[in-house]
This record gives sequence, structure tokens and C-alpha cells, in this order.
Amino acid sequence: MTRIPHEPSGEPNPLRALTLDRLRCRTSMKWRAYPDDVLPLWVAEMDVLPAEPVVRAITDALALGDTGYPAGTGYAEALAAFAEKRWGWDGLAVERTAIVPDVMLGVVEMLKLVTGPGDPVVVNSPVYPPFFQFVEHMDRQVAEAPLGADLRIDLDVLEETFRRVTEGGRAAAFLLCSPHNPTGTVHTAAELAAVADLADRHGVRVVIDEIHAPITAAGVDFVPYLSVTGGENGLSLMSASKAWNLAGLKAALAIAGPGSAADLARMPEEVSHGPSHLGIIAHSAALRDGTDWLDSLRAGLDDNRRLLAGLLTEHLPAVTHRPAEATYLAWLDCRALGLADDPAEVFLRRGRVALNSGIPFGTGGAGHVRLNLATSPELIEEGVRRMAAALD
Ligand SMILES: Cc1ncc(COP(=O)(O)O)c(C=O)c1O
Repeated sequence: MTRIPHEPSGEPNPLRALTLDRLRCRTSMKWRAYPDDVLPLWVAEMDVLPAEPVVRAITDALALGDTGYPAGTGYAEALAAFAEKRWGWDGLAVERTAIVPDVMLGVVEMLKLVTGPGDPVVVNSPVYPPFFQFVEHMDRQVAEAPLGADLRIDLDVLEETFRRVTEGGRAAAFLLCSPHNPTGTVHTAAELAAVADLADRHGVRVVIDEIHAPITAAGVDFVPYLSVTGGENGLSLMSASKAWNLAGLKAALAIAGPGSAADLARMPEEVSHGPSHLGIIAHSAALRDGTDWLDSLRAGLDDNRRLLAGLLTEHLPAVTHRPAEATYLAWLDCRALGLADDPAEVFLRRGRVALNSGIPFGTGGAGHVRLNLATSPELIEEGVRRMAAALD
């Protein structure tokens, strides 16, 4: 196996710390799913080195042999302090939280608490494809309430969907992605309060995936769903895994508001056996001591969003997009290129660049691709060059 040097790079922008040669030594999905002549700009992994406090916490744990089972509420305490400082939200009560293996398994457990087999789960397509896969795998039915043309929640469509799926008094849930993957939309307090009001009026329970919350663009404020008027009976999932690139160190938190605490208390105890102790150590260190690193990352992502917009204007003017307000993803409308429903297939085959196809994101995904901006500016330039070359 290749030996990799481990010294910190000294580069303040985490997105500039690694060269392509070093990235190609990785064994994770992003770097191993395609042959070496393909530039991978797809799955949501970041091309960064971990924040130094995370490395230190994990290294110390290994040096101590602290590799047993998790205990205590350190993760929830770290997240509560982060939420208060960053979002001005002091409503995250440690006693209304539970550790869960990861966000998607946490979503499944929350949906089990508020729906039964066969019940509908509403999603705002186009949306993160596992929302379809996990919900269907757990024997619930996905009901789409597509985003509007402005890529924001269409409250009329949502209300009509809530009305339809609850006909005859059926239990239903709304799985809200906040911020939204793939569009990077950050829902406003007013939008979230309107969602809470609609959900309340139609008896729909709201489960919120807030995994991308820390990765906002400059000047954009994330609003926790549980903090808005009417949001207190939602069930939220949060995690440090996206913002600090810790997907390989599994852990997440389920968080109840005052109105859903009794639901969360029904979650079987064994679910909390799933997250890894090292994952919890890493996530807690990130939230506690990794905020400088996070802000350097966010600044790098702001630069990359501007870079991408300029490159598209120059090399692929027919591709349109709205720069994301959060996440490190770019959702590109390629319909004007005339590449039919799956432009990602053409970019891969002819350009040797791997993007996510929009099709698995549901209604509104055809003709779109999702590009991962969490890499160096050089690789973004190379990615766009390859996309443009695919059209020659
Ligand atoms: C919206 C969203 N939820 C969940 C996940 C996966 O999180 P986890 O690995 O904790 O299940 C991702 C990963 O990209 C995501 O974008």
C-alpha cells in the first residue's frame, strides 16, 4: 500500500491542501468508483485533510486505546454549544437528543416513530436520492411535492400533497432537507414556519435532515427547524459528518423539540449502539474546536462557487444554475445542451469527468447534473474543461 505523508500542509484553505496524486491514493467511494482517467466530482466527500482538532482527538483516543463503546452526552453538548454560538439557537436540550448511527439511519428511525408500514412520506424533489431509497426500503411510500421553479419549497404544492396523502386520516410524514441537497437552498424562518403551520393543520409529522447546516455561504443564515414557531414537534437529524468530512467516522444526533420528546423517548435503546465511539469523539471535537477550520472551508467554498459561475459563463454558457446558499454542491441545469435526460452519462463517457446524474433525484432531476465543489480550484477548472470538451 502507498505510504502517505501526514504532515499538515500549512495551507489555510483546506480545499487547497491536497494534490491530485495524493487524492488518488484514497480508497473511499469518490476516488475508487471510476478508473484513474476520470476526474471524480460526484459523491459528497470533500478533498480536504481533517481539521487539526479532529486529528488530535482521534490520535489521542488511539494512543489511549479508547476504542470501546460510546458513553455520555458529549456530542449533544458540543452541538448545543455550536448551535447557540452559530445560529443563536439555545433550544437544543441535551436530554431531548439521542445518538444514532448516521443521518440516514436516524431518518429511518424517526420515520418509524411517527408513521407505520405503507404510510406516505412527502419529499421535495429533486432531492438527495437516498430519501427515496431508504424510505421505500422501510416500506413507506414516497410522495413528491416538487420544488418550485425558483428551487424553493412551493407551499401550495406542499399543501395539496399534504391534503392528498392524509385523506381518510392516514398518518404521514414530511422529510424535509434543510439546507436542501442538491440545490443548496436555505429555507428562511418564514418558509419553515409556514411548513410547520401546514404540517400542523394536516396532521403531518416533520422529520428534518439538517446535515448541511454548518456549510452556509457568506451572508446566509441557517435557521434550525425546531427553533421556528410551530416547529417544536419536529424531529431533526444533525451531524458533523458533512461539514467536517467525517462520513467514514459514523455518528449523528437525533434531536426532538418539546412537542416530540415523547416520540424520541420511544426510540429503541439499541439504535444508539450503532454510532462508533471514534465517530462521536471526532464529531464532538469538530463542533467544539473545529470552527476556525470550518470558516476557512466556507471561505474556500465561496471562492469555488464564484469560480464555477465564471467558468460556466465562459465555457458552458448554455448551462444555468443558481449558486447555492449552502452545501458544497452545484446543481446544474443542462437541458439547453440537448443531451437528453442524462447529461452526466455524456460528460463521463466523452469528457471523463464524473458528476451525479440528476435522474435519481426524482421529478425535476432529468437534464441536470450535480457537481461537488469541495475540491481545489484547479480541479474545478479541470472539471469544467472536461465538461466543455465532451461537447466538442
Ligand atoms: C442531505 C443528506 N443527508 C444525509 C447524508 C448522509 O449522511 P450520513 O452518512 O450521516 O447518513 C447526506 C450525504 O451526502 C446528505 O447530503
